[in-house]
Amino acid sequence: MRVLFATSEAYPLIKTGGLADVSGALPKAIQQLPTFDGEIKLLIPGYSAVLAKLKNIKVITDIQVLNQACSIITGKMPDSDLDVIVIKNAYLYERVDGPYSDENGKDWPDNPLRFGVLSRVASLLCSAKSPMPDWIPDLIQCNDWQTGLTPAYMKLIDNSQTKSILSIHNLAFQGNFDASWISLLELPIEHFKMDGYEYFNQVSFLKAGLFYADQLSTVSPTYAKEIQTETFGFGLQGLLATRSNALTGILNGIDTQEWNPATDAHLSKNFSNKRITGKQTVKQALQQQLGLQNDANAPLLGIVSRLTHQKGLDLLPSIMPQLIQQGCQFAILGSGDKMLEASFNDLAEQFPNQVSMNTGYHEHLSHNIMAGADLFIMPSRFEPCGLNQLYGLSYGTPPIVTATGGLADSVTDTTDATIKDHTATGFIIQSTTSTSLLLTIQRAVEIWKNKKTRREIQKNGMNREVSWAFSAQLYLDLYEKTLLTN
Ligand code: ADP
Ligand code: GLC
Repeated sequence: MRVLFATSEAYPLIKTGGLADVSGALPKAIQQLPTFDGEIKLLIPGYSAVLAKLKNIKVITDIQVLNQACSIITGKMPDSDLDVIVIKNAYLYERVDGPYSDENGKDWPDNPLRFGVLSRVASLLCSAKSPMPDWIPDLIQCNDWQTGLTPAYMKLIDNSQTKSILSIHNLAFQGNFDASWISLLELPIEHFKMDGYEYFNQVSFLKAGLFYADQLSTVSPTYAKEIQTETFGFGLQGLLATRSNALTGILNGIDTQEWNPATDAHLSKNFSNKRITGKQTVKQALQQQLGLQNDANAPLLGIVSRLTHQKGLDLLPSIMPQLIQQGCQFAILGSGDKMLEASFNDLAEQFPNQVSMNTGYHEHLSHNIMAGADLFIMPSRFEPCGLNQLYGLSYGTPPIVTATGGLADSVTDTTDATIKDHTATGFIIQSTTSTSLLLTIQRAVEIWKNKKTRREIQKNGMNREVSWAFSAQLYLDLYEKTLLTN
């Protein structure tokens, strides 16, 4: 089986969020499955960071795609022998700042073209006109809106024999653009309609993928159900409901090569479920590094997140003074919403011994917060999967989460019953309000203070199977099912 995994970000080449973690880990995990007899390759745009980190670079050929001169190059991931196919076009992809937006967080205005080219190259690789004719995939897995047009090109233009899956990591980002892009994107105008790639009179990359892909997947079973409802469907619930037979929810795993407290090179001391004492050392070092009061008994609450409406962290600043007064400390790493960044910065200025706020993107600090914090806060309004709660579970940092999407599928609330049957792994916030968040944090802190119960909850979480091996097999089952579709 030949599989092409098309994505707009993949760790360690380039990362803005969980999609990169998944794209960096899943293809590798599938390749390692004893049940997988095949080859899997990653397709990604040639951002400067990608070109700088890729190993064994070879130029394959030059092609013209949507009127843009591109080179197709191949290489290997820096940390594995996974094959990578890269689209090189200096003007489109070699920009400073982010893969989707400039330094002020403003989307690049030519994103439709940049990801149209990505989608078009993906479809060409699956066609008789492939620039790599010796390697035509049997199946392509597309991810999110950035590769959403691929199945449309495959069906409408290429008459491709390759089967397609579109994986939804976040339905909130749809890639909807003005209809004037249709000709530049070389899309057949007659399919600009409801049964096609049109969505409220715009070209929708995501809707195109949802409509034309042979199978759909998303990153947790609960999110697969939620997105068929008005509350979580962002307008696409109707289409998703009609395609529900083709929709599978598979919970993400974590890359245990990157995220394992027993081997994590970012930590000053490693620890494991059997020898947890090192976690205390990491907490101490973290308090020191962040200028927080060095106090082993102060509950240290961790946050690593994009600061957007989705993540619900706007519920936190108003309740922090009360928690600070009760002795809690906060280690926050996050960027996005400028007002929220400012609120956290103000609190850090006001309470420097108890609040630390870091903006920007810091891989090293994120690992240390995950490992050194006592509890991890994630009050998401919706969460397709969420990876941080999985990292929290395996780092002995019980997550405090809302019961939505992948959070509901991976965290079990601590109650008398779940302590008794050894399933308690974290704390569920009943509703996305500041009051409910406050009550849950207070409940979690009280329970955390009891060393025996704390240890019990940590143990349950650290014993939970969160590696990719299990979910990778579910993707392979989905690949096999997809190959059988007509
Ligand atoms: P999402 O993809 O919606 O942002 P996930 O929980 O799936 O949420 O994944 C977020 C990933 O991004 C995690 O690996 C997390 O550690 C990382 N991350 C988020 N913000 C930062 C940051 N400021 N610095 C470093 N890593 C971050
Ligand atoms: C998205 C979602 C997040 C998920 C990640 C990887 O960014 O917001 O919940 O974990 O994709 O699938």
